Amino acid sequence: MIVCVCRRVSDRDIERHARGGCASFDDLQMDTGVATCCGNCTDCARDVFDSARNGTAPAHYLPIRIQLAA
Ligand code: FES
Repeated sequence: MIVCVCRRVSDRDIERHARGGCASFDDLQMDTGVATCCGNCTDCARDVFDSARNGTAPAHYLPIRIQLAA
């Protein structure tokens, strides 16, 4: 999924950088350009980055529970 429309950065791009040793969100911005234009993606990009570094699920992508009729 594209996280940053301005710079065409996906969640997979962010996760790859985070797991590849990118030490900070500032470094991620330098490497990818994410959240360096309009800034609307900043919260989501930070969430994806922090989650990838911590090994947790991003809050923005928590699974939606669907109740199926029995
Ligand atoms: S959507 Fe990421 S800077 Fe605009």
